[in-house]
Amino acid sequence: MKLTIIGSGYVGLTTGACFAEVGHHVMCVDNNEAKIQSLLEGKIPIYEPGLENIVRKNVASKRLQFTTSTEVGVNHGEVIFIAVPTPPQPDGSVDLSFIEKVAREIAVCLDSYRIVVDKSTVPVKTGERVAQTIRRYAKPGVEFDVISNPEFLREGSAVDDLMNPDRIVIGGNSDRALGIMQKVYEPFVAPVLVTDINSAELIKHAANSFLALKISYANALSEICEVTGADVEKVVEGIGMDKRIGRSFLNAGLGYGGSCFPKDIAAFIALSDQAGTPFNLLKEVEKINVRQLNRFVDSIREALWVLRDKKIAVWGLSFKPNTDDVRCSVAVSLVEALVKEGAQVTAYDPKGMEKFLELPISSKITLAATPLEAATDAEALVIATEWPEFSGVDLRELHQVMRAPLIFDGRNLLEPSEAIDAGFQYRGIGRGTVPVAP
Ligand code: UGA
Repeated sequence: MKLTIIGSGYVGLTTGACFAEVGHHVMCVDNNEAKIQSLLEGKIPIYEPGLENIVRKNVASKRLQFTTSTEVGVNHGEVIFIAVPTPPQPDGSVDLSFIEKVAREIAVCLDSYRIVVDKSTVPVKTGERVAQTIRRYAKPGVEFDVISNPEFLREGSAVDDLMNPDRIVIGGNSDRALGIMQKVYEPFVAPVLVTDINSAELIKHAANSFLALKISYANALSEICEVTGADVEKVVEGIGMDKRIGRSFLNAGLGYGGSCFPKDIAAFIALSDQAGTPFNLLKEVEKINVRQLNRFVDSIREALWVLRDKKIAVWGLSFKPNTDDVRCSVAVSLVEALVKEGAQVTAYDPKGMEKFLELPISSKITLAATPLEAATDAEALVIATEWPEFSGVDLRELHQVMRAPLIFDGRNLLEPSEAIDAGFQYRGIGRGTVPVAP
């Protein structure tokens, strides 16, 4: 089938590449000329395992094409996916101006029946607005349908998530459009849930909020574990073995970050407030997330007494492993908090340093070429992102290069007994009362 994706960011590019991979003919549109030019040359603007391969392969087979022209895109695809950013506004609600603009641009190019699919994460009822907008700006009599088809991919495993999804959600009220959408997804082996548009839109916000709630639940437990001497790792293992609860997304740590959860939870809260049905549970989820980082910084200060002029190594800058994305990264917030108190920070991240250099805070710290280089002469080491590379570092060698043997493991990456055996004072998240200062 001929498909068009408008917006070639994380979701748009990966979705387009995966659709091409299963045999569709895909046109990706983006108004950023430099980005389209580099994609045409086979250069991928993001680090996402497996993506570069399938982009190159499908560009070579001409199943994946790129353009800056919406008109070319609208002419190409019988189904047009909108995958543009939906950034937050200061009050937490979503800025839908990119979606509205694309809806207008599509409308003026429409000549014959098209399905316009919203893939961006949007508040419930956006589909209705998109349909109204297209009707207003399109030539009289032109037929179209609007569908909501939220995306559930995670950065770092986006290709796999798209190729092997848990479910596909298609929201719409036209049998004609729903039938075509089922054909689009025929090559994927996954259950398809068909709903009305509003329900599909709500599913996305509700899913992300529930996952964030699980994380905050584990983090709230970690606080109780710290004061009672229990180990949160064992507690979540124990509750996660109950199939009704499940073990995933119960990892206690520095809290959730990234370009999705913080924004989507804030948007869902704003939406529920505006609707007159405040979702107070999610307000607590947010509060726990903020408190988790503050508590961690407090514990570093408590151990080092004063942070000013202390040399602190930070491992990890990306918001999670296997991505170079540092947007709303808790690791970056942690660096900012340490720098604010006068600490001298040296950081290392396997993939995130290039994007980190674009942030203002980067001028205030030093970047190292290896984890050991970052830790050399440090008075404390903070693990902020659980990159697998960090758990492979020889702890005895690490001990030798550091000035003082203190580890603050913000992601519970290391085995406390191994760190202690190597001579470290170790502090994780919710791992009982491990003594820190001599
Ligand atoms: C998230 C959802 O998982 C996807 O299903 C969704 O499609 C995506 O948002 C989106 O809305 O586009 P993503 O933000 O890529 O995906 O990353 P996650 O793996 O969900 O991690 C989010 C944050 O939660 C990270 O900072 C991670 O470190 C943190 N996290 C995750 C925890 O602190 N503990 C956990 O147990 C799991």
